[in-house]
Amino acid sequence: MQDDGGKVDLIKRAAADLAGSTYAIALTGAGVSTESGIPDFRGPSGVWTKDPEAEKRAYQSYAKFQRSPKEYWEDRLTGPSLLGDLGKMAPNPGHYALAELERMGILKCLITQNIDNLHQKAGNKNVLDYHGNAFKLRCVSCSARFEAGEFDPQQLRKEGRLPPLCPRCGGVVKLDVVHFHEPIPADMAQRSLEEAGKCDLMLVCGTSAVVYPFAMLPRVAKQRQPGKERETLLIEINAEPTALTEAKVSDYLIQGKTGQILPKIVEEVSKRSNV
Ligand code: APR
Repeated sequence: MQDDGGKVDLIKRAAADLAGSTYAIALTGAGVSTESGIPDFRGPSGVWTKDPEAEKRAYQSYAKFQRSPKEYWEDRLTGPSLLGDLGKMAPNPGHYALAELERMGILKCLITQNIDNLHQKAGNKNVLDYHGNAFKLRCVSCSARFEAGEFDPQQLRKEGRLPPLCPRCGGVVKLDVVHFHEPIPADMAQRSLEEAGKCDLMLVCGTSAVVYPFAMLPRVAKQRQPGKERETLLIEINAEPTALTEAKVSDYLIQGKTGQILPKIVEEVSKRSNV
């Protein structure tokens, strides 16, 4: 574990690196939302850690959707929500710090694995929901996305008219959330690769970095791209070392809670007169 002195130095270093960056982006995972009361998956009190059967069921969701979109929706409308009532959850200081970095013009883009919409609630504008958004639905034929409020699945269920159908192409509509084995929507995959390819600094916050293809993005960022003057700096902020730390993909890890460390980094950045 890092001692406080070491952590303060790393926080100052990260602030200097951010202030000196020309195209910084952030990648986030469930760890940034635990301080908002939403459990992560593989941490000590993670959903999968505590209930391995739930993880097995989650691996079946997409196959169930492909087999019977009606049954899939029945499950969604009657089953328990793994992460609790996301609508009631509020951003924490870690989310607000990332929004502040965007407002400062330092953070150009944020790519999240989280479906909880808390980055947007905190004020981030340029967010890529890599694993989808719990407050949106998506047509699996034309990939159009809809706000959840544009449909009333409970009413459709009463009328025996599940699954919801796309008003544009008549295709089947599912939750925008991306399940295990489901392909990442092409627009998200493409834009995320582009952002990872052009950044010169990548903050990786609150993720174990074991789920692919998302975990490829830090490695893409580290690859030398034509026209990229210098190697991308990869800074991790996480409660424990991750697959990126072990594989020495990241340049350094600031170990601790994102809700405590990110605001301190923003404080240090704003001390720097030229920002
Ligand atoms: N601050 C910093 N790190 C934290 C905090 C916190 N407050 N709380 C938890 N962590 C760390 C945990 O120690 C763990 O290393 O965040 C990491 C979360 O990792 P996972 O639980 O594996 O979550 P994530 O990486 O986002 O999972 C990826 O897996 O289950 C699927 O689709 C789901 O999007 C999810 C994907």
